Amino acid sequence: MIDLRSDTVTLPTPAMREAMLAAPVGDDVYGEDPTIFELERRTAELLGHEAGLFCTTGSLANLLGVRLLVEPGQEVVCDVAAHIARAEMGAHAAVHGLTMRTVGSVNGLVDVDAYAAVVAPSAGPYLVSTAAVAVENTHNFGGGTIQPYDRLVELGELCRSQRLGYHLDGARLWNAHVATGVPLIDYGSVFDSVSVCFSKGLGAPVGSVLVSTAANIARARVWRKRLGGGWRQAGILAAGALHALDHHVDRLADDHDAAQSFAAAVAEQAPPAVDPAAVQTNIVVLDTGDVTAAEIAAAALQEAVWVSALGPHMLRAVTHLGVSVEDAWTAGEVVGRLVGLR
Ligand SMILES: Cc1ncc(COP(=O)(O)O)c(C=O)c1O
Repeated sequence: MIDLRSDTVTLPTPAMREAMLAAPVGDDVYGEDPTIFELERRTAELLGHEAGLFCTTGSLANLLGVRLLVEPGQEVVCDVAAHIARAEMGAHAAVHGLTMRTVGSVNGLVDVDAYAAVVAPSAGPYLVSTAAVAVENTHNFGGGTIQPYDRLVELGELCRSQRLGYHLDGARLWNAHVATGVPLIDYGSVFDSVSVCFSKGLGAPVGSVLVSTAANIARARVWRKRLGGGWRQAGILAAGALHALDHHVDRLADDHDAAQSFAAAVAEQAPPAVDPAAVQTNIVVLDTGDVTAAEIAAAALQEAVWVSALGPHMLRAVTHLGVSVEDAWTAGEVVGRLVGLR
């Protein structure tokens, strides 16, 4: 089986398991887990922030990060296909009483004018006031697209001029960093709060870190506990994330090569389905044309290739450390043939 459903399906490597086994741990609610402390410290430093908070998931890190910047009854503005808007089960509204307003985009990429047209920081007594803007880099449903750095800076300037908070969902920021060479600290420093995931391309079994100012992270720590997310000897998990930081960042370039390989194999057999030149990182989004994505996904599964149907005609394949460039090519041939046949 070649499993391209997501980069979350990776299994910890033997070396990662060893690092987890050997981790010194303590009770993190008492602030006594040295491995968690080290992960939080290193991640904050990498991203140019004062402090970090180890969280179970990217969804929790986003939930806390946005809550730092937005009060109940205010809104956060984000992309129409942002993970926080589409895939976090309405948590920002259900748990924190925030509303969201979304802007359209091409492949999830920031259009600063579109945000400028929508944000309303002091909307008065009749309209909802905007408190923050959130962006995603890379953009998952946009097809692993990379936000151009200058646009992130420009949007940050807009936020600052309007006194809006600025949150980054950087679940796959590592991929953007490896693909562009833009230092993590440059990406991170633009934002008030940043979440990054260790359980996607980096291949750790669990965990995300939220970074921000020390005061903000102290507040987020309270919210995390309030939501039942305070944990104890979770340094075992943080050790997997630290191992990933040391050993699995640079190798993301291999995943990007594998995504190119998959897209090229598809394009050979079904050229309209994908433009390999548009694939920037480890996510390939295909247009299945007249056939439904679910049909193609089901047929591919019969041939031991696992991909996700994300929309009626939108198929997604994600490369990761469990898939070689050769596997990706083989999977692309299967999917390309199936799309081309119909
Ligand atoms: C862009 C993005 N943000 C956040 C998340 C949430 O991560 P988690 O599944 O750990 O909650 C995901 C998960 O796929 C994601 O793709």
